[in-house]
Amino acid sequence: MKITIIGTGYVGLVTGACLAEVGHDVFCLDVDQRKIDILVGGGIPIHEPGLDEVVARNVAAGRLRFSTDVAASVAHGEVQFIAVGTPPDEDGSADLQYVVAAARNIGKYMTSFKVVVDKSTVPVGTADRVSAAIAEELNVRQSDLDFAVTSNPEFLKEGAAVADFMKPDRLVIGHGNDASGLRAQQVMREVYASFETSGHKIYWMDVRSAEFTKYAANAMLATRISFMNELANLADKVGVDIEAVRQGIGSDPRIGPGFLMAGCGYGGSCFPKDVQALVRTSQEYGHELRILQAVEDVNENQKHVLGAKIFAKYGKNLQGLKFALWGLAFKPDTDDMRAASSRVLIQELLRAGANIVAFDPVAIDEAQRVLALDFADAPELLKQITFAADQNVALLAADALVIVTEWKTFRTADLHHVKTNLKQAVIFDGRNLFDPCAVKSLEIEYHAIGRAVLTQS
Ligand SMILES: NC(=O)c1ccc[n+]([C@@H]2O[C@H](COP(=O)([O-])OP(=O)(O)OC[C@H]3O[C@@H](n4cnc5c(N)ncnc54)[C@H](O)[C@@H]3O)[C@@H](O)[C@H]2O)c1
Repeated sequence: MKITIIGTGYVGLVTGACLAEVGHDVFCLDVDQRKIDILVGGGIPIHEPGLDEVVARNVAAGRLRFSTDVAASVAHGEVQFIAVGTPPDEDGSADLQYVVAAARNIGKYMTSFKVVVDKSTVPVGTADRVSAAIAEELNVRQSDLDFAVTSNPEFLKEGAAVADFMKPDRLVIGHGNDASGLRAQQVMREVYASFETSGHKIYWMDVRSAEFTKYAANAMLATRISFMNELANLADKVGVDIEAVRQGIGSDPRIGPGFLMAGCGYGGSCFPKDVQALVRTSQEYGHELRILQAVEDVNENQKHVLGAKIFAKYGKNLQGLKFALWGLAFKPDTDDMRAASSRVLIQELLRAGANIVAFDPVAIDEAQRVLALDFADAPELLKQITFAADQNVALLAADALVIVTEWKTFRTADLHHVKTNLKQAVIFDGRNLFDPCAVKSLEIEYHAIGRAVLTQS
């Protein structure tokens, strides 16, 4: 099938590459010339394990191409996936300007029936706005061409995006029940035919329920994390090991083990903005989502927990102290720095006068770009942070190690080596990577999340 992907970011590029991988003829559009130049030149603009091979294979096979040519992109696909960003607006609601712009382009250039697929995470009712934008453009052209808008939210995880797309737990597709909507359902069945035959379940539903399902999923996952973080903070006070508790409850099939790790807060391009957007939707309908407001508040607080532990040990003035910081990306296996907890901690440490030597396996370039924006009001503070090419080099002569992202290479670090390289044997671990008893036996001072009973007794 001929498929167009509008927006070649994390979701669009993975979607395009994976749909080409199952045999479709895919055209990826982006307005960002730099991104398209990198892709046309054989590069990949993001870090995502395994994606480079899928892209290269399908470009070579002639099933995947990249362009900024809007008219050609609309002409290409009977199916038009909208995968542009939906960043938070100032009031926390999803900013739909890119989605609407993409829809307008479809209305402007289409010359035959199109199935328009909202793959971006968008609030309930967005499909109606997309339909209205396309219809307006068709009216301008005095055209009565038919189209149908469907909702097919994406559940992939950065860092495992290719595997998640190729082997999804489920596919959620919302479509209308009129003739165009049912025609779109048939088209979507064909798009995902090879996924369906490999046993992955498609949940067909109405469009609004599909839009809501994506927010409900992210809200639930964010809730589990904030729930455990809140308990972890209490665990520190009452003398309980939160890891033991996690295992104790996660083994209950009614609860399940996923998304129960306590830590220094969730970040990324999805949970923070999607929780906020759902809260905002509820407010628009005069409804209060009290649990989700608390989830958001707890997470904002949690991003300050490592800083609070550091200030509790050294006082508010950190001048003369140097911290090795391991992990910048919001989670492992990605270079995505959106809403990363490291950004909050770096703000706190640099503004308190500390020096930082930071290391991340892939996110250093992206970190430098976003930190320049974060410190636009005080660029001179950025002189206090440098970036090491290696995690061990970052440790040299540092007063403490601070861990913010749970990269595997940190988890398997040789703690003898860590201790030898540090000036003071102190670790602040925002991701509970180590066995506290093993760390203690090496006479390393260990500050983790919700594990004080094991580390400070
Ligand atoms: N990143 C994730 O892990 C993830 C997972 C599931 C869902 N989502 C959702 O998918 C959507 C996209 O997220 P992302 O992380 O891929 O964003 P992204 O910022 O990485 O990519 C969006 C791309 O769209 C391009 N774009 C903007 N307007 C355009 C237009 N009119 N025409 C063509 N291209 C245009 C941008 O230049 C950018 O390259 C969001 O709604 C997000 O919430 C993201």
